[in-house]
Formats: sequence, structure tokens, C-alpha cells
Amino acid sequence: MAVMSEITIRSARPEDARGIARLDIETWRTTYAGMLSTAYLVGLSERRREAGWRGAILREPRDVRVAVGSNGAILGFGSCGPNRGDRSFTGEVFTLYVAPDWQNQGIGRRLLIALFRRLVASGRRSAILWVLRENPSRFFYERLGAQQVSRKPIAVGGTAIEAIAYGWRDLPGFLAEVSSQDRESEP
Ligand SMILES: CC(C)(COP(=O)(O)OP(=O)(O)OC[C@H]1O[C@@H](n2cnc3c(N)ncnc32)[C@H](O)[C@@H]1OP(=O)(O)O)[C@@H](O)C(=O)NCCC(=O)NCCS
Repeated sequence: MAVMSEITIRSARPEDARGIARLDIETWRTTYAGMLSTAYLVGLSERRREAGWRGAILREPRDVRVAVGSNGAILGFGSCGPNRGDRSFTGEVFTLYVAPDWQNQGIGRRLLIALFRRLVASGRRSAILWVLRENPSRFFYERLGAQQVSRKPIAVGGTAIEAIAYGWRDLPGFLAEVSSQDRESEP
């Protein structure tokens, strides 16, 4: 197994779109099995997701970050940008996923920090992130200093479910506290 130092966090390139889409669908199916409808999860289209990711990367590659192994495989990804809703947070983390075999090895933390650095570099000093209440991964965000700031009912693939918003009000302050190893990637 590769060691952590062989994993690079970098901005995405258009040719990463396929690998991101594959991992996106794989992690959706493993994460949301039992939470969202099986028919919806089975029906997720890799081609449609790939097109969506290619579009996002072409719009602003620095807003999409990938964790890449020494053989070039995409092991995790995340994306960020301006907050689409509540104006009390200027930035938003839209997605963050790590491949099931690579979870709990620090990749999620490194990706999230890279997204925060990108948000700060683009003038956004706070961030919000929405997660399904039933998703145990939300405790990861609490571990990384987030506070619950809001909740709302949403519908995903026909399932009514509650989403919780986590917020970081001071990204520069948060980043000042993280270790130098976590600050490796370009803003
Ligand atoms: C949530 C996720 C991104 C975290 O990434 P990861 O690489 O597994 O997490 P890391 O190894 O970087 O963990 C960082 C810290 O958070 C803790 N942590 C990770 N997952 C956790 C969880 N589910 N509950 C509580 N703490 C957790 C780790 O123990 C570690 O703690 P430490 O600082 O004491 O070492 C990843 O597990 C994932 O992709 N999960 C499935 C998909 C998903 O739900 N994504 C979020 C959708 S909004």
C-alpha cells in the first residue's frame, strides 16, 4: 500500500473528469445505501456525472481538488466555490469524497484544507457545507472544527431526508492552526 507522502493533492484537470465521476458514483453508492433509494443509486449515470465534472473543471480548475496516488489513480476529490445560499458564509464546500479503501488515512483532511486554502485565496473567509443528517461522516466535520449552523428538509432522488449545515466562520484562523504538512498544495 502507498504511504501518505506518495499522495498528491492538486487542482483537477479536464482529463480527471472520468476518474472523479467513477469515484463519485462509487462513493455515493457505498455512502448512501440505505439512506437513499436503491433505484436512484443504481440509476446514477457515470457519463452524466463525467460531463458535469468536466464542465466544473473547465469553469474553474482551482475549485476542484483531487488526491492522486503515485500511479495516477484518483483516491479522493472535493470541490468548493461561492456559497449558493445563506450569505453569512461566503464560501461553500460542495463535495468531499475519499475512496472507501483510502478512508481514515488523512486524505479527507488534506483535501478539505486544500479547499479552504482555495476559498481564502479567492477572497472567501468562511465556509458552509451541507451533509445528510444520517451520514456518520458528519462527525468528521465536527472533528475538523465545524459547528452545526442550520438544517433543512431536502429531497434526493425522491427520498425526503434532513440535511445539516456545518460552518467554519474563520477559515484563515483555522488554517493558521493546521500543521505545515497539511498546507502543501498550491492555493
Ligand atoms: C468523510 C470523509 C471525506 C473523511 O475523509 P477521510 O480521509 O476518511 O478522513 P481523515 O482520515 O482525513 O480523518 C481526519 C480526522 O477525522 C476523523 N474522522 C474521519 N471520519 C470520521 C467519522 N466518520 N466520524 C468521526 N471522525 C472521523 C479521523 O479519525 C481523523 O481524526 P484525527 O484528527 O484524530 O486523526 C471520507 O470518510 C468519505 O469520503 N466518506 C464517505 C463519503 C462522504 O460521506 N463524504 C461526505 C459527504 S458530505
